[in-house]
Amino acid sequence: MTDATVIVNADLPGPTISRHVYGHFAEHLGTCIYGGIWVGEDSPLPNIGGIRADVVEALREIAVPNLRWPGGCFADEYHWRDGVGPRHERPRMVNTHWGNVEENNHFGTHEFMALCELLGADPYVVGNVGSGTVREMSEWVEYLTRSGSSPMVDLRRANGREEPWRVPFWGLGNEPWGGGGNMRAEVYADLARQYATFCKNHGDNVLYRIAAGASEDDYAWTEALMRAVADMRAAQFPGRPFEAVSVHYYTIGGTWTDKGPATGFDAAAYWRTIRRAQAVEPILRRHIAVMDRYDPEGEIGLVVDEWGTWWDVEPGTNPGFLHQQNTMRDAIVAALHFDVFHRLADRVVMANLAQTVNVLQAVLLADAETGTLVRTPTFHVFEMSTVHHDAVAVPVHVRAPGATHEVAGEALPTVSASASVRDGVCHVSLTNVDPERSVDAVVEIRGARVGAVGGRILAPESVGAFNAPDHPDDVAPRPVDELEVTPGTVRVTLPPHAFAVVRVDLHDLPDPR
Ligand code: AHR
Repeated sequence: MTDATVIVNADLPGPTISRHVYGHFAEHLGTCIYGGIWVGEDSPLPNIGGIRADVVEALREIAVPNLRWPGGCFADEYHWRDGVGPRHERPRMVNTHWGNVEENNHFGTHEFMALCELLGADPYVVGNVGSGTVREMSEWVEYLTRSGSSPMVDLRRANGREEPWRVPFWGLGNEPWGGGGNMRAEVYADLARQYATFCKNHGDNVLYRIAAGASEDDYAWTEALMRAVADMRAAQFPGRPFEAVSVHYYTIGGTWTDKGPATGFDAAAYWRTIRRAQAVEPILRRHIAVMDRYDPEGEIGLVVDEWGTWWDVEPGTNPGFLHQQNTMRDAIVAALHFDVFHRLADRVVMANLAQTVNVLQAVLLADAETGTLVRTPTFHVFEMSTVHHDAVAVPVHVRAPGATHEVAGEALPTVSASASVRDGVCHVSLTNVDPERSVDAVVEIRGARVGAVGGRILAPESVGAFNAPDHPDDVAPRPVDELEVTPGTVRVTLPPHAFAVVRVDLHDLPDPR
């Protein structure tokens, strides 16, 4: 057992944690869309206009705030006109990035927008810069968001949709430094400015345009994009080319050629994973430092629109489908990321886990043949964290000198925490990364009196525990029954490899939020 004091400054106002940092990403990749989300209206599985009803129900439980689509790499070979109109007339294509399989375009613009409407999620549409045209992207925006009469509006109407949709988030291509066109940063920065120019606001739909950003620690890429922002601000006719830049950061436990299995991993792989997950914070901070130099007012947002674990695919599955299981280790990686997003909430305005169903760090594993649906450990972290959506982040300090584990000469902290306040209630997220030792955590609430407390915890038998159709609840939250309240503190025992959210009612908060 180790000791930790978690000091929560409940009265110190911080930035709002945008619910959009709890966003998701669904690509035409493997069985994420086909089988995972879309089964078609003729499927024997219960569906709502072709969309799996059980998946909709589960995703509603985690209050998906936004959904990124159609890629990923797929976005830069996707031509939206192929995905509208009568389904049986839609042209087919080859998904060259993901398994070289045929794409029949049955899940297109209308189907995606129907999914977003069912979920109450804001659409985040990624346009094609790599192999598309400015006109194609511009017309897609018009098709989606314009009302009245115009060539694209008339086409939409002919395809059965009278009213425009609201599309707040718009991506200007994906990974242009790689599969999105193998461009140099300055070339892409100019293209992003050009494409963004023709992504217009129609009516009252205001686009939040996101330039495709860096991979991991490529700070030069961020710098090139921010320079493009600054140049345009300083131009004779000043303007803003885009509203945000993105960054992609994946957590692997090995190397990109040998990422290791999703289950049955050893302690060394576990700790390498934790090290890699924790490295996201200094990396994001350096990107933010670059942004601060060009945009000290913090007007441009940072969007982590791909993040999550990436393991070797499950044995016997198509290597191009990126299908992996999901254990308590994945849940801990998610919890660590959310603590970081909460701490950096003034610049990190949005994030998207890769990916929603059946791909990479999925929240759901859905089998189209058997009709089963499994909520993964990561799902539960998202569900337990909905309390932080749009709440005010408050500063948290963790004092736990004994809670470290050495990896490659580096002492990794094994206790992580963050907190938010809304309507006089504080929620504290607590993670014990250590798979061997429990933590005796004393949460010290400053700036308000502690009232009623409660909480839920995810703490399965082992860090390698996972859920499957024949044991769907091996990793599931339960109420925390080990809470002990003294004036000003809440004491909680965190078992090994655990994630908890503790709720504290606050009294006498000077500025009730
Ligand atoms: O999420 C899988 C892939 O990872 C995405 O398509 C791409 O953007 C990234 O390299």
